[in-house]
Amino acid sequence: MAIHRHDNHKSANAFMQWMDARMPVTKVWNEHLAEYIAPKNFNFWYYFGSLAILVLVIQLVTGIFLTMHYKPDAALAFASVEYIMRDVPYGWLVRYMHSTGASAFFVVVYLHMFRGVIYGSHREPREMVWLIGCVIFVALMAEAFMGYLLPWGNMSYWGAQVIISLFDVIPYFGPMLTEWIRGDFVISDATLNRFFAFHVILLPLILVALVFLHLVALHHVGSNNPDGIDIYEELDEKGKPKDGIPFHPYYTVKDLVGVCGFLVLYMGVIFFFPDFGGIFLEKDNFAPANPLQTPPDIVPLWYFTPFYSILRASTETLLQFLAVASVLIGVAAALFTKYKLPVRGGFVVAGIVAALVFLNSSGKAWGVILMAASIVCFFLLPWLDRSPVKSIRYRSLPFKIALAIFLVSFFILGYLGMNAPTPLKTLLAQVCTCLYFAFFILMPWFTSIGKTKPLPKRVTVKEH
Ligand code: HEM
Repeated sequence: MAIHRHDNHKSANAFMQWMDARMPVTKVWNEHLAEYIAPKNFNFWYYFGSLAILVLVIQLVTGIFLTMHYKPDAALAFASVEYIMRDVPYGWLVRYMHSTGASAFFVVVYLHMFRGVIYGSHREPREMVWLIGCVIFVALMAEAFMGYLLPWGNMSYWGAQVIISLFDVIPYFGPMLTEWIRGDFVISDATLNRFFAFHVILLPLILVALVFLHLVALHHVGSNNPDGIDIYEELDEKGKPKDGIPFHPYYTVKDLVGVCGFLVLYMGVIFFFPDFGGIFLEKDNFAPANPLQTPPDIVPLWYFTPFYSILRASTETLLQFLAVASVLIGVAAALFTKYKLPVRGGFVVAGIVAALVFLNSSGKAWGVILMAASIVCFFLLPWLDRSPVKSIRYRSLPFKIALAIFLVSFFILGYLGMNAPTPLKTLLAQVCTCLYFAFFILMPWFTSIGKTKPLPKRVTVKEH
């Protein structure tokens, strides 16, 4: 028996040698797992990167099985989804895994991004990791938006109609562009076919490629950690970081705990509340697309609602407020800064020009600009943040207050976007939109004031 085991071991070794001479399997395994050194103080927030990979794989696998039975044809699509739900063996499970997976993806990615913000993972030298992450976020939104048209429910239809018609506001090219995207004058079979192609082929390819690049960039610079300090500053006699541990087995095992926790919640939703009270699967989408009847309120799924609220908050009143505000800011900059007189005059002129632009453009056009800007802001974060420390543990009070206000505004915007607007709700959305942008615009200022705490030399870990 012992001889056999020895022989097996020998042949496995020989196989790996054969393989390694032709493809760097062991080298890649060692560099990116067994010998990839990660800080030893990863906490709860570090679960979400590996969970995002897990959800991506779940979406790809369940998506392949759905595609086997789904029909991308306006006359058949809705019925083919019903067929999957009722007649395909375990079709309901595959579909609920995919629809719940879409929401789970955004939960995980939002938490993953939040971790980046609280620990300063977007800061030097991880700007590329962050930027690629932001592109992933945009690609994910496109993927989810296109996937939502496929069941051809009434909300699929009208949601796509509203969002695609936003491109109409682009001067001159707008109407041509919307027609080109839809492939028709209205959302139709042509639109469904191209969205299917993008959803099942193009965007998944792009997402997988981007996630690969995200990890290449991360492994090139190394992971940040909850203390936001560089573990390569404190090395042992062998030149290895004192606070570093190999990713495998330590973090593969730790991530498994996260996977188990995630699966419990994920399956809980799939088996007990698959529509999550109309939040993960909207009620109006249980009726087939009807071009002659709009749903009472056209609202996107929850993960888009903060941005949708920003879009809807842009009314003529908001533009009038912004016009007054830009004149006041111009005058204040002229009065209270120490620049030379012509520069200060320039501030006033710029304020007046901005006010005229606001007063002479439409609320819808600014809604689209603001919605796009609300996402572009994330790309700029590494350069807006001027704090001398990275982690929230050592940051000044103004940063913590600003982040709290931003978070509350983001949640309120998300909530408002799920509901039909009323004058009061629109006003609240406008206030929250201003607070949302204030977080980014004022960031260079509030991250450079206030007292930060001294950084430790070594990472902090709680004794168990
Ligand atoms: C499909 C979506 C994504 C996947 C699969 C993914 C995967 C990962 C993984 C596996 C890690 C290393 C483990 C960890 O630090 O948690 C990581 C790190 C990171 N990701 Fe992502 N990610 C995704 C989206 C994003 C997005 C949208 C952003 C930001 C806009 C982002 C920003 C970062 C940053 C800054 C790090 C480094 C964190 C640190 O070292 O502290 N990622 N990502």
